[in-house]
Amino acid sequence: MSKLPRTLAALALTLAAGLVAAAPADAATGFTPGAPGAGDPYFPDMGNGGYDVAHYDIALKYDPATKSITATTKILASATQNLSRFNLDFLGPLQISDVSVNGRQATYQRTGAQELEITPSRGLRNGQPFTTQVTYSGAPQTIDDPALGISGWVNTSDGGLMLNQPIGAATVYPVNDSPQDKATYTFTITAPEGLTSLANGDPAGSWTKDGWTTARWVMGQPMASELTVIAIGKFTVTDGVTPGGVRNITAIDTTLDTAPGQDADFQNRTATVTDWESSIYGRYPFGSTGGIVDDAHVAYALETQGRPVYDRYGRPGQNPSDGLLAHELGHQWFGDSVTPKRWADIWLNEGFATYSEWLYAEHTGGQSVQASFDETYATDASDDLWQGKVADPGRDHIFDGLVYDRGAMTLHMIRKTIGDDRFFTLLKLWPTVHRHGNASTEDFTTFVKRIAGHANAGQLDALFATWLYSEGKPAL
Ligand code: TRP
Ligand code: ZN
Repeated sequence: MSKLPRTLAALALTLAAGLVAAAPADAATGFTPGAPGAGDPYFPDMGNGGYDVAHYDIALKYDPATKSITATTKILASATQNLSRFNLDFLGPLQISDVSVNGRQATYQRTGAQELEITPSRGLRNGQPFTTQVTYSGAPQTIDDPALGISGWVNTSDGGLMLNQPIGAATVYPVNDSPQDKATYTFTITAPEGLTSLANGDPAGSWTKDGWTTARWVMGQPMASELTVIAIGKFTVTDGVTPGGVRNITAIDTTLDTAPGQDADFQNRTATVTDWESSIYGRYPFGSTGGIVDDAHVAYALETQGRPVYDRYGRPGQNPSDGLLAHELGHQWFGDSVTPKRWADIWLNEGFATYSEWLYAEHTGGQSVQASFDETYATDASDDLWQGKVADPGRDHIFDGLVYDRGAMTLHMIRKTIGDDRFFTLLKLWPTVHRHGNASTEDFTTFVKRIAGHANAGQLDALFATWLYSEGKPAL
């Protein structure tokens, strides 16, 4: 007789835990901690489980005298399980002074490499929206990873720059640092009068008080944390509209802005590329386009959402090339609007961005796409380009030529298999179907086969097996 009630009690407990418990159920309440990672094989500490962020509201004051910030980040999220506690990612020397959830003081603990473990005063019910507010200050960390380069908070000669791909965001704000948890953002940035503060999205006012200027920026479309940007410094800003009707805000660090006509050139070529790419990839996905030229000293450009950053350190008077603009603006569809589910899928960003360079070169009377393919294919079989798998390059190789150039070659092989009509349909439909979402390599290969009408299914499977999932130089 005593067996039956116990079984029922156990069943009830399992149901109460929602069958998704990331940790053993708390028998008293059925509320359990959210997972401390989002399950990316390359970056197991990044992201967290148990909730879904809708909006970040980051208010940050930057003081160049100390290269420090004081900041409050408010996060609006919804629980996706009954939560007893949850984690955010937060990293480096910033000191937290206060954490509250739904306006009540919460207890917190920083553990591991980048975990901020927050225990609200009462559990959060599955589906319930909740706000978390974290107040903190200090000099944010710059990450210098041997394989991934410089990211996080970068001090420039006249201010600071936040660049987050792939692991930097947690150096500046508490975040669910997974590309799968996109959210809208508000940035309210305060810096000494005379400095300009830029971020993703559209300007929403600026005001000066007691020698400090505050600028507000709003990104109203979902954005992955790896694509958020804050740039503070001396900039000349041009606020225009492309001929196609997209607002276009470009900015150049004044120390780099030394050639006559440089602002107009950067503004105009950004407009031309944005409009041309819209004509082949579909409607521009965000409220504004643009770009930021800064003395970042990081040796790369980055496709920060709606407003890429171009490092022009050591090259005053020089704007980014057409190829680089085509690459970073191409990412707005491929990487930013459609974001990979896992970091292993990053060829879906870089392959398309590199192919954008090839297409734009051909469009402007330069080298044909076929010639770009042939030139790249001619690389010796012993080259690094052919070592590794495009669709699983490994954590330390996500920015390798393999991902970029062989990724673009893979797209060209698909084009040659399915034909130009279907390929250009694909270029437009893929970012339309997955607009503001996430997709994996498997989603992509399935999509290609659907566009091909399953006509070349066997040939396509062989192509994917060779070009995406195998090492070595493929035979043509
Ligand atoms: N994803 C960037 C682009 O292709 C480049 C980039 C970001 C990069 N981080 C990097 C390149 C680190 C080398 C090392 O636009
Ligand atoms: Zn790129």
